[in-house]
Amino acid sequence: MTTDKSDGLIYMDHAATTAVESRVIEAMLPFFGQQFGNPSSIYTFAQTAAHAVDAPRDEVAPGLNARNSEVVFTSGGAESDNTALRSAAFALRDHGDHIVTTAIEHHAVLHACEWLEDLGFRITYLKPDGDGFVSADQVSAAITERTTVVSVMYANNEIGVIEPLGDISRSVSAKAAEFRHPIVFHTDAVQAAGWLPLDVDALGVDMLSLSAHKFNGPKGVGVLYTRHGAPFAAQAMGGSQERNRRAGTENTPGIVGTGLALEIAESARIESLEGDDSVLRMRDRLIEAITAIPKTRLNGPRAEGRLPNNVNFSFAGVEAESLLVNLDFAGVAASSGSACTSGSIDPSHVLLALGLRQDMARNSLRLTLGRENKESDVDRLIKVLPPIVERVRRLAGPGR
Ligand SMILES: Cc1ncc(COP(=O)(O)O)c(C=O)c1O
Repeated sequence: MTTDKSDGLIYMDHAATTAVESRVIEAMLPFFGQQFGNPSSIYTFAQTAAHAVDAPRDEVAPGLNARNSEVVFTSGGAESDNTALRSAAFALRDHGDHIVTTAIEHHAVLHACEWLEDLGFRITYLKPDGDGFVSADQVSAAITERTTVVSVMYANNEIGVIEPLGDISRSVSAKAAEFRHPIVFHTDAVQAAGWLPLDVDALGVDMLSLSAHKFNGPKGVGVLYTRHGAPFAAQAMGGSQERNRRAGTENTPGIVGTGLALEIAESARIESLEGDDSVLRMRDRLIEAITAIPKTRLNGPRAEGRLPNNVNFSFAGVEAESLLVNLDFAGVAASSGSACTSGSIDPSHVLLALGLRQDMARNSLRLTLGRENKESDVDRLIKVLPPIVERVRRLAGPGR
């Protein structure tokens, strides 16, 4: 449907990125060519571009149950996360200097926190339980009179665990009322889009980050939802684009593509709830077949509280890199941990936070499905994987 992949490739790395949906490409094309105007120019020719960067807000807002004026387009998930944290921390610095987050966030959040730490802010990194869950009680206990920002991801990019944002939000609000100053509640929902409801009121969030290339939209475009009235300090300064919340000439084709891609992803999600959810069924088949391989651990929750398209395993004595290379030879595109850290041999910070040993935290395999995967892809994967695991183990020698 959306992809034109090389022959026979089984793509199971949708958490890393996805192909741009054909209808999305079509909608974007005119804005690279004929409609190249700068949305900020006043002449008539540019008005089509001005409309083009505004109209997609009406496509994004309903999925978020937000107002279109609360939607800010950015250059991606990393920028949305960076902006949310830095902006909220600085806007509220008269009230405090403490941020609460989790140890399993994406580096876009963790590195922004480290940067703030260097500037004198204090950060509490909550440790999840063995499945990756962080509780509302933990968040509540971590909030102090100096806390101004809480950032907890909606769904984890490595292990697919879904955090209880509604409960956490209630704890944050109760603490904000107790301490009589605002506490901004942000969530990184980059991996949730297209799989989980994004209703910002039900989730109780003030800020929410999305990345278009994770839901069959273009790369290099993101969304930062900012609740009306939430403290905000622009991070990119210059022009007055995005209602003074992000300077810079808008990525017209990217924004057009993002609006349509989110609308399509939301309809597909709602459709899957009404009918038979083939992605969920494939995920459960993968879990059943792969956990049957000896000395294999499923990372993250078994079913409840897990993204429908994510599985993650550690195989004792099997180096992730050898496994991935062998899978590549077999025509399977998969990854170990997040795409941003693969290629590095560091153990996954997410798996370490879950309490895994260094070797098990280094040797993980993440498979993430998309709506275009078929049962036959799962058939082939579960046929090729066990002998590869066995071979890599054998080559690694005894004692591994
Ligand atoms: C949870 C999460 N947050 C943020 C990002 C960064 O998104 P982007 O690639 O659009 O900068 C990613 C990308 O993998 C992610 O998985």
